[in-house]
Amino acid sequence: MNRRAWAEPYKIKMVEPLRMTTRADRELAIARAGFNTFLLRSRDVYIDLLTDSGTNAMSDRQWAGLMLGDEAYAGSANFFHFESVVRRCYGYRHVIPTHQGRGAEHILSQMCIKDGDVVPGNMYFTTTKFHQELAGGRFVDVIVDEAHDPMSEFPFKGNVDLDKLKKLIDEVGADKIPYLSLETNVNMAGGQPCSLENIHDTCALCHRHGIKVFLDATRAAENCFFIREREAGQQDRPLAEILRDICSYADGCTVSAKKDGLVNIGGFLALNDDELADEARNLCVVYEGLHTYGGLAGRDLEAMAIGLQESLDYDHIRARIGQVQYLGRRLMNAGVPVVHPIGGHGVFIDAGAFLDHLPREQFPAQSLASAIYLDSGVRSMERGGVSAGRNPKTGKNVHPRLELVRLTLPRRVYTQAHLDVTAESIMAVFEQRKEVVGLRFTYEPKRMRFFQARFEPVEGTSVMRDTTDVHEPVLSPHD
Ligand code: F0G
Repeated sequence: MNRRAWAEPYKIKMVEPLRMTTRADRELAIARAGFNTFLLRSRDVYIDLLTDSGTNAMSDRQWAGLMLGDEAYAGSANFFHFESVVRRCYGYRHVIPTHQGRGAEHILSQMCIKDGDVVPGNMYFTTTKFHQELAGGRFVDVIVDEAHDPMSEFPFKGNVDLDKLKKLIDEVGADKIPYLSLETNVNMAGGQPCSLENIHDTCALCHRHGIKVFLDATRAAENCFFIREREAGQQDRPLAEILRDICSYADGCTVSAKKDGLVNIGGFLALNDDELADEARNLCVVYEGLHTYGGLAGRDLEAMAIGLQESLDYDHIRARIGQVQYLGRRLMNAGVPVVHPIGGHGVFIDAGAFLDHLPREQFPAQSLASAIYLDSGVRSMERGGVSAGRNPKTGKNVHPRLELVRLTLPRRVYTQAHLDVTAESIMAVFEQRKEVVGLRFTYEPKRMRFFQARFEPVEGTSVMRDTTDVHEPVLSPHD
């Protein structure tokens, strides 16, 4: 008998009822949202796979921790608990809490980047790149080529291409590069990990040139799981040990604890350099709040301290990634084009291939996210041309090679039946894919346009031509 490789190491103690919608409800809701899933109201969403950020279910221990909130303005007991956990898990001396990841990115970018600097990274993340540019820097992608190929089975598509990095250092000079930004389990590449060896070698190369390395360790726990599964010599090592190794190579990290950290809000910057840490605390006071609360309540710091520890539990991560793999395999087996290998925090549909009748100017990923919502109330996120924005110099739309729709799984939230509903909905849209209509902007914000942009279908009023019974229920009768 073939036995399951994983199952949830928890049971459900509390439920949050969901509203079931009809196709007519959804037709109205997506049109009101300007065909942007970010602008949907959550009450109109059945299964919310927009993001794994801040959407995780906390454990009973974390909820109990909320009751231990010490809401003193300065020197809260929860800060010292949180600080000791980060020091132990990540190994850095200085810990500065922030309201979320981008708060830490802001502080780091403002401290380290000057006008005209260059910041290499293994693919961009929207907020990270934005803060680097705001501080006067220019982001340069040095990820391996495999990361841009959705069909490549390379096991470490998050790796830095050391030759690209060397070439960049030669071209612009090390003194123009304040630090390299190294993301663990690269979000925009599809949740793809870096190998421990590559992290080591990248940091060593940077340090030889006097360039610092700051990790974006937002999904480092998931990266540690892949290292343990895939990298020679790493089997059976505790995830906490692998994380300490990763952090020991770099100079510090920014973290959004809303992902692996299992909280609804929170983040931090951690580093070893005393002078930089002093500066970071100063900026924290200005932008976030006193350096012992960083824009968070004491209770949030407590929940984060507990969540960060739970995130390194092997059974937890195995079940978390097991869920993602389950959804990914169902889609793959049905012939739906998805990014290979299936990543850590979500399944990424190759919208360019899925909707190959739509030109890139009609934003296939944005259209597909709307069509999936319309079919079943499953909310996903565009990660393609709309997210990439415009080239700041030419003003032209950037069309990245990856034009993706992300189905991101919140941790400990949905059941396997929810995943089946999701897979079956996407398979249904896939069968009718030629009926999906492209989109054009009706409103385009200047910054991070994907959050608030509005669109309309290039023909007709719906994102999907109506060929079926529009009142078909989401679930088939045998469910
Ligand atoms: N770094 C990475 C890799 C992220 O994925 C995110 C957020 C951040 C930094 C910023 O953290 O949201 O706490 O300020 N990603 C979310 C997502 C928004 O949906 O992928 P934040």
